This record gives sequence, C-alpha cells and structure tokens, in this order.
Amino acid sequence: MLKATLLKAAASSTLKRQVTNNPVAWRVARRFIAGDRLDDAERTIRELNGAGMSVALDHLGENTESQSQARGASAAYLAALDRIQDEGLDANISVKLTALGLDLGRDLAAEEAAKVAARGKEVGAMVGVDMESAAYVDRTLDLVASLEESYDDVGVCLQAYLHRTPADLERLNGLGVPVRLVKGAYREPPEVALQRKADVDAAYARLLDVLVRDNAYPMVATHDQRLVALTKSLAARHGRDRSTFEFQMLHGVRRDLQAQVVAEGYRLRVYVPYGDQWYPYFMRRLAERPANLYFFLSNLAKR
Ligand code: FDA
Repeated sequence: MLKATLLKAAASSTLKRQVTNNPVAWRVARRFIAGDRLDDAERTIRELNGAGMSVALDHLGENTESQSQARGASAAYLAALDRIQDEGLDANISVKLTALGLDLGRDLAAEEAAKVAARGKEVGAMVGVDMESAAYVDRTLDLVASLEESYDDVGVCLQAYLHRTPADLERLNGLGVPVRLVKGAYREPPEVALQRKADVDAAYARLLDVLVRDNAYPMVATHDQRLVALTKSLAARHGRDRSTFEFQMLHGVRRDLQAQVVAEGYRLRVYVPYGDQWYPYFMRRLAERPANLYFFLSNLAKR
C-alpha cells in the first residue's frame, strides 16, 4: 500500500516540484545520487574504481516532453562517454529510452539511441538500456534488438515481476543480447506483473538459472543476499567463469554486500546516477524500503 502510494507519487509533477526544491530531500537523496554534474559523477567513479568496482553511469531523466530535451539527454551521454574515454574510467552507461524521446515517437528515440550506441562502441563501453514501466517493454526490446545488430555491445534490463519475462529472456538469449535481471521497480497491475514479494523473488530465482546458463553476459542486479548466493552456485554448476558475468548494485545500497562480493573475487558494477532530474529515481528508492522513507521524514521533521 505504502509502496504503491510512493510509486504513484513518483509521477506527480506537483510533488516533484515540492520535493526537488527541498534541501532536506536533496540531502537524503544524495545517498543514492552522485551529484548534479558530470564532475560529481567522475569523482564517484574514481572512488568506486579505486575499490575494485566498475560503474554503470546513469544521466538522470525520463519521459522527456520535447525534442530538444531528448537531444539534450543524448548529448549528456555523449559527454559522459567522452569523459570515460579521456580519463580512462572503468565505466559504461545506462540509458532510459523515454529520456531519449520514446514518448514523442520511436524514430526520435531510435535516432538518439543510435548516436549513443555508436559512441559507446568507439569507446568500448556497453550501452545498457534500463527497463521502464510495462507499457514500454515491446518498444524497448525491439529497439535494443535493432541497436544490437549494428553496435554489438548493447544490453537491456528485464524485470522478474512481469509475467512475460521468461519468454523475453529466451528471445534475448537467442539474439546474444546481454541481460541485466532485476526484480522490477514500477507499479504494475496483476494482469501484467506478480504482486507478492515472495512470488517475485521465486520468479527471479527461476529466471536466474536460465540467465546464468544461456545469456551472452549475465548481469545479476540485486541486493538480495540469497539471490547473490544462488548466482554463485549456479555459475559453478553451469561452469561459468567469473569473467563472463557480473553482479550489479545501486550506488548507496548495501555497500557491505558490494564490498564482500568484490573481496570474494567476483565482478561488481555499481549503478551511479547523476543529474538534476532525480525525483522519480529517488521516489522508487524510497518505495523499495520503508526505512528510507522514515529516514527522509525524520530528517524533514528535524529541520
Ligand atoms: P529487495 O527489494 O528484496 O532488497 C534486498 C535487500 O536490499 C533489502 O532487504 C535491503 O537490505 C536492500 N535494499 C534494496 N533496495 C533498497 C533501497 N532502495 N534502499 C536501501 N536498501 C535497499 N528496476 C527497473 O524496473 N528497471 C531498471 O532498469 C532497473 N535497473 C536497476 C539496475 C541495478 C544495477 C539495480 C541493482 C537495480 C535496478 N532496478 C531496476 C531496481 C530493481 O528493480 C529493484 O527495485 C531493486 O534492485 C530492489 O530489489 P532487490 O533485488 O535489491 O531486492
């Protein structure tokens, strides 16, 4: 109930204005976000690289409403890729197709995504495509499949809570597209997605087996300790070398588990968002864990 309310609030523009202009909210959000600018992101990447962790860099923004915003988003990614190359950072990028204009038309998003994927290929950095709400899944997967044909190193996220995901995973495994498996962070109806956490966790475990066995480069994105342990045993069972898959976790979440996975000699990539459009991302992080909301509210009360 609380989770659903927070996810609904993530789409409210009035709340967005209020929260974004609130310095306390920004202070709390900073746990999850590197900062406003690319320089902030670079500082965070250096710290994480120093600790033996790779990075997936996310320039915050989604559901852009004009062509110029979409072009601005792809320009930000091109600048990030330049920085990754110039500074020799161990990082790739993660994009949302609605930031690149998917709501305004497939062609615009395809054009902007192609610019980013072409530069990613030159730099040798995978372009990972985030998965947004269920309404975008078909368009996202079709676009990713066509990008992958021209630029090879394009990956995509699949959400374990969607009923359709077993079939999508099979298709992407067949196409050789690297997949990041997550539980799913949006509010979806029961016809589309599993509602109970235990069911989502079980679906994730089943998909994980197929992912680890058959995917070109499995990216296991979770902070769930049991699923991290299961991945290790599945990798051993399917004879997967540690250099052929990676764990992924969010910046600011379960740093202890991040350090442990690295200490054990596994690959870990930390998803690092930056930019001023942090409101919906922050709301999804609050929705994942009520303790985050209580922390936020108690900080507001202390003001
Ligand atoms: P679960 O929610 O069961 O959490 C396991 C444990 O992790 C919790 O007990 C808690 O300790 C800790 N934890 C989890 N979330 C926390 C939080 N916000 N704050 C503090 N602690 C927390 N989703 C999506 O729909 N599309 C996408 O493209 C992506 N991309 C993505 C990339 C990466 C690298 C990650 C790690 C996650 C995503 N997600 C996502 C988000 C994903 O769908 C999911 O909502 C979160 O990862 C939380 O689920 P867990 O698998 O961590 O399990």
